[in-house]
Amino acid sequence: MSAIKLLPGIYWVGAVDWNVRAFHGHTYNTKRGTTYNSYLIVDEKIALVDTVYGPFSDQLLKNIAEIVPLEKIDYVISNHGETDHSGSLAAIKKACPKAKHYGTAKAKESLQKMYYLDLDFTVVKSGDKLSLGKKTLTFLEAPMLHWPDSMFTYVIEDALLLSNDAFGQHYASSERFDDEIEMEALMEEAEAYYANILWPFSPLVLKKIEEVVAMKLPIKMIAPSHGIIWRKDPMKIVNAYVEWAKNTTRKKVVIAYETMWKATEKMAYKIADGLISEGVDVKLYDVSVVEHTGIIREMLYAKGFIIGSSTHGNGMLPHAAMFLDFLKCMKPKGRIGAAFGSYGWAGGAVKSIEKILTETGVELIQSGLGLQFTPNTEEEKKCYEFGKEFAKRL
Ligand code: FEO
Repeated sequence: MSAIKLLPGIYWVGAVDWNVRAFHGHTYNTKRGTTYNSYLIVDEKIALVDTVYGPFSDQLLKNIAEIVPLEKIDYVISNHGETDHSGSLAAIKKACPKAKHYGTAKAKESLQKMYYLDLDFTVVKSGDKLSLGKKTLTFLEAPMLHWPDSMFTYVIEDALLLSNDAFGQHYASSERFDDEIEMEALMEEAEAYYANILWPFSPLVLKKIEEVVAMKLPIKMIAPSHGIIWRKDPMKIVNAYVEWAKNTTRKKVVIAYETMWKATEKMAYKIADGLISEGVDVKLYDVSVVEHTGIIREMLYAKGFIIGSSTHGNGMLPHAAMFLDFLKCMKPKGRIGAAFGSYGWAGGAVKSIEKILTETGVELIQSGLGLQFTPNTEEEKKCYEFGKEFAKRL
């Protein structure tokens, strides 16, 4: 894609990655691909805010060159050091050797250790300003949104917030703005992004939003470093972040399980029936089949997590273990849970699940349900009652 004008003198010069499906080391299924958004601000001085993932360097250089000769770039701002935004720094340094680089102290540290580029780097802090002539950039540190080095760049005269990862979505498209795209799909991706990347940092998200609100900065546009730019209604995504960060839950339960010979699955369906009979919104997933990114998104609003696995080697099956390990990293707050599963000659999965749910901070509200081999009619009823009992505690 070619460069796209956001505002007078401000351009998107990034890259669209249509085919990426595994992000962050296969922890994130990017089912709609993603974009790496880089922004060029042309004034008396010229600034580039963030670069793109290394394999897309040529696209970045081509897009910049459509607007200005590459060697004219004066400043390169790194809002965040992660490779998807900094992977073209070597190419930029080669093309723009006189450019001065800006970022937080942590960004400087991480970029040095990743690329060894000997950049002419100025460390900035919240409130520091950089004049480009008529336009002024001001920086706002945003540690742990989602790395220690993260910051936002705000273009004062345009009320434009370049928020890097925050407010982004993994969404490849030929459109660049929220008024050009189907809103339901956009919000689904924004929610998946929050649940899988920012959920553990929710208290910091709230604090940062409160801080920005207190600064009374007008915000006419939010341009993140992934996906669609919010220009029609930038507060829509800010308000959504506030709701997600507040850890609001509903009368909803996610049942996530892995089954060896379908007995655990049979249990899962009966537990679901018990929950549904009490009017609970239930989502049920076999974690060996369904991509985990979407399940984690569903968990964002769920008050209850019921996790199951067949026993294998006195523990749980591997996809269930992998799923719970990731869930633990999301640090969900205020959730209730329970475990279930079928076993053959010796149990173990239920205990293993309960241990990791406890470590995750999920309150176990009833004893786990382990059943030998395939549940009979009486045992199926037990599963149903297990679901009903859980529903009453929601
Ligand atoms: Fe934290 Fe999009 O990189």
